Amino acid sequence: MENIYEHILSHKSIRKYKEKEVSDEILNKVITAGTRASSSGNMQPYSIIITRDKKQRKKLFPLHFEQTMVLEAPVLLTFCADFNRMRIWLKQSDAPENFDNFMSFLIGMIDATLASQNVALAAEAEGLGICYMGTTLASNGEISKVLELPEHVVPVVGFSLGYPDEEVAARDRLPLEAIIHREKYQNYTEENIREIYKKKEVDGMKRYLSHPDLRKLIEESDVSNLAQVYTKIKYTKESHLKYSADVLECLKNQGFLNNIKSEDTTIILKQ
Ligand SMILES: Cc1cc2nc3c(=O)[nH]c(=O)nc-3n(C[C@H](O)[C@H](O)[C@H](O)COP(=O)(O)O)c2cc1C
Repeated sequence: MENIYEHILSHKSIRKYKEKEVSDEILNKVITAGTRASSSGNMQPYSIIITRDKKQRKKLFPLHFEQTMVLEAPVLLTFCADFNRMRIWLKQSDAPENFDNFMSFLIGMIDATLASQNVALAAEAEGLGICYMGTTLASNGEISKVLELPEHVVPVVGFSLGYPDEEVAARDRLPLEAIIHREKYQNYTEENIREIYKKKEVDGMKRYLSHPDLRKLIEESDVSNLAQVYTKIKYTKESHLKYSADVLECLKNQGFLNNIKSEDTTIILKQ
């Protein structure tokens, strides 16, 4: 038991990888661990796309905002919410072909994400490193095309995978007391918030300033603290509105919004 804690607590995202391949044997082993994650109704409404091919990775590179790990890691895993497989089976079995709605997408998304984190932990136990890429969701429409996903299959999370070629320091986490609420939600006071984010403000800013590109961006921008880095540089309102629209468009195209009228999606996109 101690080992599993040691293992989980030593997680660090890895963005630089050795050229060494990851064998199919290890990949199958860690993905098997992924499939042991809990699953809604045990339907396992997800698929995992393994990308090794350089040409495919080159196509995915711009969609992942040119993150170099897309080209350099030997493997990319894309976890997709997938009700296509189940719906074919339903049709064969004269069962109603449900699961073409938003709730079904959410169920698939949760299951895909649970599986992904099991794979991540198993991979790290094998001496591999991973780094999630939020770009999987932000670019999920275009990624769907590259991966030739049929209707009712949508990418939700993905990560690069390979043998680590960098030593990185563990990143900060919020104190436990900031996360836990006993019996009911206890809202935060101004003082709580100052205390909770005190360490992060220093460590986080130090980390961003240690990257030459980010440092330049920060210095040239109108930002003076970490909270502003998050909202004026990393996750702007404009970018998130654009990704909201893109993701909704992808869900519509992939047949997961059949119960939602276009007026309703407009409401979601309103500021
Ligand atoms: C859903 C998700 C998306 C992420 N997207 C990216 C990404 O696009 N690029 C990146 O370098 N790291 C990405 N990360 C990794 C986080 O930056 C990282 O987990 C966080 O900074 C904490 O660091 P640690 O994983 O080393 O503890 C992502 C993590 C998650 C969970």
